[in-house]
Amino acid sequence: MTNSAFTPRVFSGIQPSGGLTLGNYLGAIKRFVSMQEEAYETIYCMVDLHAITVWQDPAKLRHNTRELAAGFIASGISPDKSILINQSQVPEHAQLAWIFNCVARMGWMQRMTQFKDKAGKNAQNASLGLFGYPALMAADILIYHATHVPVGDDQKQHLELTRDIAIKFNHDYGVDFFPITEPVIEGAATRVMSLRDGSKKMSKSDASDASRINMTDDADTIAKKIRKAKTDPDALPSEAKGLDDRPEARNLVNIYAALADISVDQVLAEHGGAQFGSFKPALADLAVAKLAPISTEMARLMDDPAEIDRILARGAEQAREITAPILKQTYDIVGMVGG
Ligand code: TRP
Repeated sequence: MTNSAFTPRVFSGIQPSGGLTLGNYLGAIKRFVSMQEEAYETIYCMVDLHAITVWQDPAKLRHNTRELAAGFIASGISPDKSILINQSQVPEHAQLAWIFNCVARMGWMQRMTQFKDKAGKNAQNASLGLFGYPALMAADILIYHATHVPVGDDQKQHLELTRDIAIKFNHDYGVDFFPITEPVIEGAATRVMSLRDGSKKMSKSDASDASRINMTDDADTIAKKIRKAKTDPDALPSEAKGLDDRPEARNLVNIYAALADISVDQVLAEHGGAQFGSFKPALADLAVAKLAPISTEMARLMDDPAEIDRILARGAEQAREITAPILKQTYDIVGMVGG
């Protein structure tokens, strides 16, 4: 059996660990929205079980999960077109993760660079869940037999592990049950960098709030952060290669291109030769026009958390129509008695 035997199905997830940024929007969510319009079933997930691999304050976790759901919906992910869920409400994710804990090898897990980065020097004190994180991620994907997974390139190694787990499971049990998932890796072009340092990724955990645009920032804050963004003294070039050694300039041009849905060359055709004194206000206007309606809608949705909870409960029901039969078949394959 090849992947073409599987329904084209997209799965992706984001951790509800607080603070959605422009980086999440341009790097991930915007593409999640457009994939809804293509020939895929789409499932998008707030991975709350992944979030607690490092301790989370329960009240904040609940808030962040709802806020991320609001961010998804406000950005255009429609609960009528996509299945929108929080991971813990679909128990088959964690159940399949256990099976995968028994498929994945210690040696594979020990090679995961994200664990090494996150655990740091004190790996002995990291949670077992942080170490097992990629097996749960594989389960998130494979419990839907998802064929395509859009993620940032920092997740590439986890997707390779997902493929290794699917291959080993299929081999060990002599089945063609799990698909070999295709990564849909977002390239560097849409990676949004810090507004204070063009060599660092825009991050919710940067100490400086001026380094990022938060999806909850209002129009004034967005405009102010762009006006204050670090740049160099030169005018914009008229071709993309003129941005090669100018990380801050390149970042602002990339952001403009992504927000306007045009290429970098098109931005430079229009703004090449301009000083930042005129480009920044143009970028600020564009960013406010695109993002302020999203932050306003997020705030409106957050005023009615019960409605968000209803959407997630409905998503979980829809999800379980897919995940319950796949878990049952997995248990049968493995030799569990019952059902
Ligand atoms: N590990 C991903 C990240 O940090 C989040 C995630 C969890 C995920 N499960 C997933 C992404 C399944 C894609 C598919 O970005």
